[in-house]
Amino acid sequence: MGRVEVPGDKSISHRALMLGALAVGTSTFTGLLEGEDVLATAAALRALGASVRRLGPGHWQVDGVGVGGLLQPEGALDLGNSGTSARLLMGLAAGHDFLATFVGDASLSRRPMARVIEPLARMGADILAAPGMRLPATVRGLCPALPLEYRLPVASAQVKSAILLAGLHALGATTVVEPLPTRDHTERLLAAMGADLSVVPTADGGRAVRVHGFPELRPQRLEIPADPSSAAFPLVAALLVPGSEVHLPGVGLNPTRDGALRTLLAMGADVRIRERREVGGEPVGDLFVRSSALHAVDTAPEDVPAMIDEFPILFVAAALARGRSLFRGLGELRVKESDRLAAMASGLTACGVKVEEFPDGLAVHGSGGAPVPGGAWVDVRMDHRIAMSFLVLSLAAREPITVSDVGPIATSFPGFVSVMEALGACALGPGSAPVAP
Ligand code: S3P
Repeated sequence: MGRVEVPGDKSISHRALMLGALAVGTSTFTGLLEGEDVLATAAALRALGASVRRLGPGHWQVDGVGVGGLLQPEGALDLGNSGTSARLLMGLAAGHDFLATFVGDASLSRRPMARVIEPLARMGADILAAPGMRLPATVRGLCPALPLEYRLPVASAQVKSAILLAGLHALGATTVVEPLPTRDHTERLLAAMGADLSVVPTADGGRAVRVHGFPELRPQRLEIPADPSSAAFPLVAALLVPGSEVHLPGVGLNPTRDGALRTLLAMGADVRIRERREVGGEPVGDLFVRSSALHAVDTAPEDVPAMIDEFPILFVAAALARGRSLFRGLGELRVKESDRLAAMASGLTACGVKVEEFPDGLAVHGSGGAPVPGGAWVDVRMDHRIAMSFLVLSLAAREPITVSDVGPIATSFPGFVSVMEALGACALGPGSAPVAP
């Protein structure tokens, strides 16, 4: 049986560093993701005056400056490809009376920022952005910020978290109402650090999250669980390649993140979950995966936030399933690191998979388990998850699939290619080897 040490959770790693920087005292983290996105957050926090140090692989220390204690950065903050870094740090900057400029790569500079600019402006920040409310953007924050009550127009954990981070710097309570529950790592960590925070379900299935300003946050010693969004790639690879058996230890099972696992189980995936436990305030478990004959699914719109990052690899699973899978309510996928509906539709079509593209989703006609034709070149459009998805599909294709660039994979899953090779995925394409028989 193959074993994959999936790297630390990206969302939690960003938040651990940022909230560690706001604590009073020294926090230490193990299992921190050392992908480019998280390293961009670490560099930005250093530029904002926090001491962020790497003690060893995945082992980091942050000396917090206390809520409101960050300093004006000397240069622009370059967040690379990372939407989470840009949006959450804009929230932090909104609560400080200084000027901070945010820049990113070509992909990040195309992504919408109005969703954070609008609420942060209501909290008193002055924000100047490039046309279309995109990066580069300069934030002049206000300290104390104005408290806010805000209903999110889109279910977004990044926007929720940006407002909560600004709300830590407001006098009184700031409330964010989300239409559907989104990942709640910010809330879990804030509560563990002693913030005055409440989460109340709303009558229409959402949640209202309220935080009071200027808490004294306790530093943390935190072990960060393996990222379920990264685990999804070797997991689907094992499902698709006949004869595979793979063990993925310590994977996060937070109910706001487990939608892909639930969907794959509904498709007939043989995944056993053992040793359910809590790590770093998050539910985790060990996953044991065996190759499986999958059947098609239709996903429900209310499940979308819990698997928002996993749709590219779910489309790949659907391409090998029996029947037509329908995924709707996915308009947000058009504004991720790439337009993921367009990228996946054109890549799958080039690989001989029949798809129907809708403004807010995709239908995928599965092969019933037979290898797909493959033999295509796929443009990954600066998107790590598009690259990994097609590399996994290549394992279940008659002819190898070539991706335009593996570079973006380092944003979330450094070592992905060697992990897959170690599982036996070196003979890609015709006669591909099973993933760790
Ligand atoms: C994230 C939230 C999601 C997700 C992203 C990480 C986070 O984005 O797609 O990869 O860490 O808060 P949205 O908030 O735009 O849905």
